[in-house]
Amino acid sequence: MKMMMMMYLSLVMLMHIVMLDWAQAAHSVYPRIRLTHKELWQLNRTWVFQGHGAPLQPQTMVLDEGHGRLYVGAKNAVFSLSLDRVSAHHKEIQWGSTESQIEECLMKGREQPECANYIKVLQPYNHTHLLVCGTGAFNPLCALVRVGHPGQDKLFALEEEGVMSGRGRCPYDPNSPCTSTLSRGELYIGLYTDYWENDGALCRLNNQTYTRTEKMDRQQLTEPKFVGSVVIPDNDDRDDDKVYFFFTERGMDSDGVNKAVYTRVGRVCANDQGGQRMLVNRWSSYLKTRLICSVAGPDGIDTHFDNLEDVFVLKDKDEKNPEIFGLFSTISAVFKGYAVCVYLMDDIRAAFNGPFAFRERPEHHWTPYEDKVPYPRPGSCASKVNGGGFSSSKEFPDEVLRFVRSHPVMYRPVLPQHQKPVLLQTEQDGRKLTQIAVDRVQAQDGHYHVLYIGTDDSVVLKVITIYNKDTNTMEEVLLEELQVFKVPVPIKEIIISPKRQQLYVGSEVGVAQVRLHQCDLYGSECADCCLARDPYCAWDGFTCSRYYPAGVFTKSRRFRRQDVRHGNAVQLCNGLQIDDEKWQRAEEKVVYSVESNSTLLQCVPRSLQAKVLWFLQNHGEKREVRGDERVIMTSYGLLILRTRSSDSGVYVCQTVEHGYIHTLLRVTLHVLKGERVQSAIHAANGGEGSQCSSFSSSSSSSGLLPGPSISPRTGSHSRLWYKDFLQLIGYGDAQRVEEYCERVWCSDKKRKKNKRKFVPTGGEKRGRGRGEENSQRAPRHTSDT
Ligand SMILES: *[C@@H]1O[C@H](CO)[C@@H](O)[C@H](O)[C@H]1NC(C)=O
Ligand SMILES: *[C@@H]1O[C@H](CO)[C@@H](O)[C@H](O)[C@H]1NC(C)=O
Ligand SMILES: *[C@@H]1O[C@H](CO)[C@@H](O)[C@H](O)[C@H]1NC(C)=O
Ligand SMILES: *[C@@H]1O[C@H](CO)[C@@H](O)[C@H](O)[C@H]1NC(C)=O
Repeated sequence: MKMMMMMYLSLVMLMHIVMLDWAQAAHSVYPRIRLTHKELWQLNRTWVFQGHGAPLQPQTMVLDEGHGRLYVGAKNAVFSLSLDRVSAHHKEIQWGSTESQIEECLMKGREQPECANYIKVLQPYNHTHLLVCGTGAFNPLCALVRVGHPGQDKLFALEEEGVMSGRGRCPYDPNSPCTSTLSRGELYIGLYTDYWENDGALCRLNNQTYTRTEKMDRQQLTEPKFVGSVVIPDNDDRDDDKVYFFFTERGMDSDGVNKAVYTRVGRVCANDQGGQRMLVNRWSSYLKTRLICSVAGPDGIDTHFDNLEDVFVLKDKDEKNPEIFGLFSTISAVFKGYAVCVYLMDDIRAAFNGPFAFRERPEHHWTPYEDKVPYPRPGSCASKVNGGGFSSSKEFPDEVLRFVRSHPVMYRPVLPQHQKPVLLQTEQDGRKLTQIAVDRVQAQDGHYHVLYIGTDDSVVLKVITIYNKDTNTMEEVLLEELQVFKVPVPIKEIIISPKRQQLYVGSEVGVAQVRLHQCDLYGSECADCCLARDPYCAWDGFTCSRYYPAGVFTKSRRFRRQDVRHGNAVQLCNGLQIDDEKWQRAEEKVVYSVESNSTLLQCVPRSLQAKVLWFLQNHGEKREVRGDERVIMTSYGLLILRTRSSDSGVYVCQTVEHGYIHTLLRVTLHVLKGERVQSAIHAANGGEGSQCSSFSSSSSSSGLLPGPSISPRTGSHSRLWYKDFLQLIGYGDAQRVEEYCERVWCSDKKRKKNKRKFVPTGGEKRGRGRGEENSQRAPRHTSDT
């Protein structure tokens, strides 16, 4: 037993190491651009609808392009937001529980906060109505909401007289997982149908019939967690439409001893009417199989990502073949990793058309079922394409129904495209990935999937993944990291409007609307734009702007330059800007330092993925600054401790990214003797030297700063320079003589305030939870007055 435990642990540790290996190989841990909520705001790139204290239920968010509205359920309310600006002109329906409903709920032993009407289902019903269902204080209710004809956006009202029971179509518990989709007037839903959450079911409802999975059948569903659902046609015969459900469930092996969780795709025929004598009001076509998302380790040990967090169906012009994106996590308690896998419909259909799984007894292994399968093939629909011999599933032979009832599992799982994830991440600083949405973007060198991945701390990661056929490898490019809410909250839904080029991001505290791209942010030069590798953007000869594929806007297409695949600015922008010219254009600065004081030569590249190099020119020679215990390269710039007069000279800050060299800054450093400073202070003493410049205003050199981090590029010696460093960034570029004066005259109080605001949060990345530690370590008084 102990032996096994040890083996298990070493296996887990090995897996952990392997995981880290991929994560490092796969991508840089830095996003190229990181924008805080405030920065997004200042850039006019975002609007936020605040839920007015009512916790939102963003899982119910629905995009309605026809009316130009976004609907979102909440506690005791439904909101209709404007797609143009979610923060303006919203409409609201109040739909709370009555006093008696609440009383009844409390009597059942529920807590006050649970005894409310949490909207769990919100679906477009037809052109003029929405179907909405809420938990109704543990007594589910459904109703229709009138939204009027498209273009008529004044209307938003509950059809009060039509309120009906929501039992079987809405869970009781506000936290119960459920997924629904509405197609041709019928609601398909995966949910727990009962008060005690014992009866997980996949159902279809209209006002005549209720069809569902078998009750308490562990072969069909075992402790399911419902994640997604979609109706996908198989061919041009609508009778062959299939409904797909994505969920996780417990494994069924070894009499419930094995508690493994698996991800499943299950499906039924949309026109399934159940059986006539058996399987009455039960699916006669329900089958399921496993979705695999795994990575092969070096020793043949696969790491499986078995827990489906979210699923996104990327629709295409060919509605029969959408691409399915799954966001998965590992089950392991020891380490947490995430992966995104893409599934093609051909592979899903092949698994359902393959052999059925079979086992003699629960303790036996699954094998492919090799005997004769009855006709029509179990799981197929009553349709013309299938021979047309049956007008409804009610006519299927009992033999078929019996078979499908006893063999709901397919033998073959569905493997992802390229047999591997398109994206891999280890959990960093406890940040969890929660949601995914995908946009298909046409670029000059092909089309790209732009993945928007939501986290549990208000961040949306914008990532592209590039497949290299020759090496069979994936490259992940983390384009942007956007903090869409002010406070850290889990992101519960992401919806893309390709038409408006907007992202709508839902959390309990609000809905944020964010523009998908902001090309000018990358910089105005060809190289800036090219290095960004953002498929939405291209250099147009003047600036970095939205890229439109040929035919949309043909104007000045000759000048469009873009290289998403390689980001090869050296080649692409060659001849457009000569390096010498850039040398001229680099920002110029003069900085004064007092001998034996410390100084910071600030240089923050816009891209967090760029490598920074420093050169010093003095006495006619140019050499690279390597850094030592006195000269330290930080992500803010070059920190020189105890300056000497021999440090004087011209410092050049350059970045290298994808082999492209960019000169950002030339700083002339003058190291002054102590007495000269004293006289300079006296000279400046006439004015009141009042404005204490804060870090943010004095750091405008590079436009928007990425979040502060104090990773020294040289490692070691951190203790020695940490204090100086904090003092320096606390005052911005305090090097200039005038600022020395301010330093002497500014009140302690104001200084402390500035400092608190800009204490670096530490760590390599975001240092969540570490900020406090740093601020404690930060010197309380840096006063030298
Ligand atoms: C944002 O919009 C405001 C008002 O429309 C405008 O004054 C400001 O310049 C804009 N900011 C940016 C960065 O475009
Ligand atoms: C939508 O359904 C409602 C309720 O059944 C009905 O009153 C309404 O007329 C329908 N609208 C359209 C456009 O069919
Ligand atoms: C639901 O039932 C009502 C009355 O029984 C009927 O008028 C309506 O057309 C039905 N709706 C659907 C979608 O079948
Ligand atoms: C800077 O130099 C002055 C005078 O040499 C000294 O009094 C002061 O403490 C120094 N400040 C820092 C931050 O090293």
